[in-house]
Amino acid sequence: MILVTGANGQLATLILAQLDARGVPAIGGSRNPTGDQRPLDFDDPGGLDLTDVTILLLVSAGYAEDDRVVARHRAVLDAAVRDGVRHVVYTSVTTAGDHLAFAPAHRATERMIRHSGLAWTLLRNGLYAELFGALLTWTPDGLESPFGDGMLAAVSRADLAAAAAVVASAPAAHAGRTYDLVGEPISATAVAAHLGVDHRTIGLGEYRTRLLSDGGLLPFQPPMLASIATGIRHGFLGGTGPDLEQLLRRAPSNAVTIAATTIDALRPARTGPV
Ligand SMILES: NC(=O)c1ccc[n+]([C@@H]2O[C@H](COP(=O)([O-])OP(=O)(O)OC[C@H]3O[C@@H](n4cnc5c(N)ncnc54)[C@H](OP(=O)(O)O)[C@@H]3O)[C@@H](O)[C@H]2O)c1
Repeated sequence: MILVTGANGQLATLILAQLDARGVPAIGGSRNPTGDQRPLDFDDPGGLDLTDVTILLLVSAGYAEDDRVVARHRAVLDAAVRDGVRHVVYTSVTTAGDHLAFAPAHRATERMIRHSGLAWTLLRNGLYAELFGALLTWTPDGLESPFGDGMLAAVSRADLAAAAAVVASAPAAHAGRTYDLVGEPISATAVAAHLGVDHRTIGLGEYRTRLLSDGGLLPFQPPMLASIATGIRHGFLGGTGPDLEQLLRRAPSNAVTIAATTIDALRPARTGPV
């Protein structure tokens, strides 16, 4: 049986839908299970139960400091070995993302997986097109960002979910493989042009100051977001490759459209006289 972790998260929800569409039986594991989902909270190692699971699709449980993320992944991998899981498929971060502040947690998890004794497949996911769109900011004159003319080989969550479902459906064919799942390079200027507005670049100092004064961010988030900004701006995340298209057997979805749709939905309502 396939179990997909983080079942109520956005990526895992799409993976489960893709598996269902392919007629491949799978269940979800979640901190807050509903229906036939299995309770699965990596922060509760004693409660982890993976009996009857043969293929574990481990969706990274980020949004915390690296030591906590690695401890979560260690706990679920220990449970997988104990309970007889045969193959783990892990959603990691793209190879070009080694410069990103959250890369160490992913690479440490990859190392644990390689040493686990389980069969494995690593899905090195590119940054989401949806995330790129959400990181742009509206001003009265158009869009603003710290990305300059830098390109990002952005990829939609839906494409990443489809690729994960392809691998989980026939894991033996992908054992010991590491896939770099990146899409077509896009820029903030292209996203703005798609919406018919201008794009203005701000400096990284100004960006970091804004992040640090945003009371809604957790302590690990400003350095994480600043690392994404400098990585894109200075051309480290723009390279693409064939793995995604080969797994999907089709071209990736249009990342400019997806990023534009995301930021268009966040456009402030027009105020004042019309
Ligand atoms: N490539 C990118 O651009 C990018 C961007 C952001 C994040 N990510 C990484 O990719 C992962 C999936 O992305 P997403 O868009 O699906 O994020 P998401 O919608 O926030 O979902 C993350 C899910 O992780 C699960 N999770 C969190 N803490 C957990 C814990 N202690 N034990 C078990 N499960 C836990 C939760 O599932 P339940 O609610 O069902 O428990 C949560 O909903 C993220 O967690 C993050 O590591 C990648």
